[in-house]
Amino acid sequence: MNYKNILVEIESTIAIITINRPNKLNALNRDTIKELHRAFSKLEKNRKVLAIIITGSGEKAFVAGADISEFANFSVKEGKKLAAKGQDLLFDYIENLGTPVIAAVNGFALGGGLELAMACHFRVASDNAKMGLPEVSLGVIPGYGGTQRLPLLVGKGRAMEMIMTAGMINAEQALGYGLVNHVVPQDELLQLCEKIACKISNNSPVAISYAIKAVNDCFNNSINGYASEIDAFGKCFGTDDFKEGTTAFLEKRKAHFPGK
Ligand code: COA
Repeated sequence: MNYKNILVEIESTIAIITINRPNKLNALNRDTIKELHRAFSKLEKNRKVLAIIITGSGEKAFVAGADISEFANFSVKEGKKLAAKGQDLLFDYIENLGTPVIAAVNGFALGGGLELAMACHFRVASDNAKMGLPEVSLGVIPGYGGTQRLPLLVGKGRAMEMIMTAGMINAEQALGYGLVNHVVPQDELLQLCEKIACKISNNSPVAISYAIKAVNDCFNNSINGYASEIDAFGKCFGTDDFKEGTTAFLEKRKAHFPGK
């Protein structure tokens, strides 16, 4: 499939999506959001792809935010639609994807960029990364889930400070906050993400997709997460992956899961 603003490579069981607008620090414009939705939807359906890494092109930015030039003249109605559509097409979509998504944060992750990283299942950062939600400096608030996901990841007080000051934190601070899981030199970032993705790929993709749903349900007020876990746990017993995983263990061999 041809894309204008992103690159998609598949190597063995791992897909790497690179947002490719380096001259605009990979800012998320409307077309990029649509292309990302198409790419994620296609990779989710690809039975061979067991983990997805998303990163930004160049050495400076993961994503420097939503494309400010596109919404500078928006009305109240248009602003609301922008946030709703973006959340639906990309941010909520990634969070609920059955295939694991790792954000490789290779530089600035600001506004919509940090919101994109936070919608991923977890994050790894390069040591030059800088993260923040600077929206209030523009007279607006985060609209792609930032006010909801940041407090979940770093706690209410830290989220309030980051949002109110519109300031940036560096990779080490982000590690201390629990916003990213690992920090490595920039030239080792993809390597580490691929290593983690590889480790994930050895496990049951079906069980992983149930686990993603159960963990996400922990943060969904309208759902009892424990009930959701019981339901998903039970469903695993009816899968070929469960048969293979338990049989392989008892036969003292490595499991070969049929795939997602
Ligand atoms: N939307 C649109 N364009 C953006 C952008 C964004 N969020 N972030 C960066 N760009 C563009 C700049 O306009 C510039 O384009 P130009 O060369 O055509 O003028 C190009 O990317 C390079 O950015 P520049 O600002 O020159 O780089 P810098 O190194 O001086 O500063 C940042 C880097 C990240 C500090 C700065 O670009 C910035 O503050 N960006 C906006 C961050 C933001 O507020 N994001 C939240 C949006 S809701």
